[in-house]
Amino acid sequence: MLGSGKGSNFVAIAEAIAVGKCPAEVALVLSDVESSGILDATRQRNLPARFIAPGKFRTKLDEDAERAYVAALQDAKVDLIVLAGFMRVLKGDFLRAFEGRIVNIHPSLLPSFPGLEAWKQALDYGVKVTGCTVHFVDAGVDSGAIIGQQTVAVLDSDTAETLHARIHAAEHELYPNCVAAIARGEISVSGRQVIWRP
Ligand code: GRF
Repeated sequence: MLGSGKGSNFVAIAEAIAVGKCPAEVALVLSDVESSGILDATRQRNLPARFIAPGKFRTKLDEDAERAYVAALQDAKVDLIVLAGFMRVLKGDFLRAFEGRIVNIHPSLLPSFPGLEAWKQALDYGVKVTGCTVHFVDAGVDSGAIIGQQTVAVLDSDTAETLHARIHAAEHELYPNCVAAIARGEISVSGRQVIWRP
């Protein structure tokens, strides 16, 4: 898993694994932020966690960092890369190394509101329903084939904070379910269509 922030999606997936709802194991958690909650939460569970410095850019990994991330993940023999709040765009060599094996969660119903602060974009736009999306990662921003989505109603009384909190809660249901389905081999992909065959 890769993350830069709090790590609440990591916790949701780790708990699903611990109670037998998701037949997977966390081989390695990497972060570009040394003091991130996701690294703390991983270490608390005695799972392997590593900070790898991202290098000189703000929104992507530099070449050395990219190589170090790929090598660490290959050494750990990961089958699937789960992005959980990793705040850097992954580029060519990384994507090629793990083609079709990288998933991400985004806090809106894609293709609406890609990019940053999607819950705020939804609130500002005035939609009545938003949610979260788990998708495969391709070379675009939040543009890969959609694996699963969960809706969240936007309330008249919502602030950016309250809406974000409810989307986060929906993420904690959706993401472990999607990872479990992939781990069970129930997911197949044909172009943009992702088929679930339990
Ligand atoms: C989530 O809201 C996810 O949609 C976005 O980053 C956030 C990560 O939260 N990609 P956490 O670190 O898992 O709590």
